[in-house]
Amino acid sequence: MSLKDKVVVIMGASSGIGAATAKLLASKGAKLTISARRLSRLEEIQQANVGAEILPIEADVTKADEVQNVIDKTVEKYGRVDVLFNNAGIMPVNNLDQVARDEWNNMLDINVKGVLNGIASALPIMKKQKSGHVITTSSVLGYEVLPGYAAYSGTKYAVRAIMEGLRQEEHANNIKTTVIAPGSVNTELFNSINNEEVRDGLKSAMKQPGAEMMAMQPEEIASAVAFVIDTPANMAVNEMVIRPTGQEV
Ligand SMILES: NC(=O)c1ccc[n+]([C@@H]2O[C@H](COP(=O)([O-])OP(=O)(O)OC[C@H]3O[C@@H](n4cnc5c(N)ncnc54)[C@H](OP(=O)(O)O)[C@@H]3O)[C@@H](O)[C@H]2O)c1
Repeated sequence: MSLKDKVVVIMGASSGIGAATAKLLASKGAKLTISARRLSRLEEIQQANVGAEILPIEADVTKADEVQNVIDKTVEKYGRVDVLFNNAGIMPVNNLDQVARDEWNNMLDINVKGVLNGIASALPIMKKQKSGHVITTSSVLGYEVLPGYAAYSGTKYAVRAIMEGLRQEEHANNIKTTVIAPGSVNTELFNSINNEEVRDGLKSAMKQPGAEMMAMQPEEIASAVAFVIDTPANMAVNEMVIRPTGQEV
């Protein structure tokens, strides 16, 4: 089945990488369910893509019943789920000595348990179909650690481990797994940094001369997601690390 007829559920579709992926897949004729907490942003995407099949559903990935509802409504509308893109995430930055417990809890709930909630909801239908594809956004920080990013890195290492376990458990059911691991991408992610100094520093670095080689655009990651979805049934791209050319780490 080509990309055109695939049913794709995107969690974290209201901005950045998820929104860009929704727009690209819609333009290629995929049938989409797009989900996030900001319903108005999802509806804007729907309205901007006239003629595309897009179902916007509000959901918080930390709430298992809301994630289940996204999958149930998708099956109700399209009859199947070919791809689940677990893309919702936040990236607060603080050194561990700041003991930012709320940030740790939110990151674990969204970046890790949110992915598990997605897998838990989509797996039964994919197993029944004897086919499916789960894609999860990790990060270069799922391979490397930087000061200030220890907890975030921990969540992104964790999802790589979860996705490798999923691959081993479900390959015999023709379920593909892909970890997308971007370096710096120009999105709204910095808004989830509570530490003002770090947030402003990163935002102003994005405006310095040469910054275009230090960050990618969400549309560029979207094209990688479209590529991994549009592979033949016998081929699974399990991991894809995508750095801006000028990024050192
Ligand atoms: N930007 C980068 O440099 C970069 C690099 C590597 C990896 N990543 C990863 O890429 C993914 C997408 O981030 P982005 O860069 O595109 O940033 P973004 O523009 O801030 O997008 C984050 C998305 O996650 C959603 N989200 C956050 N918390 C959620 C929750 N509790 N329930 C449901 N949805 C939630 C947001 O929607 P709502 O707020 O509307 O719920 C939004 O759609 C994240 O997993 C991030 O860790 C980003």
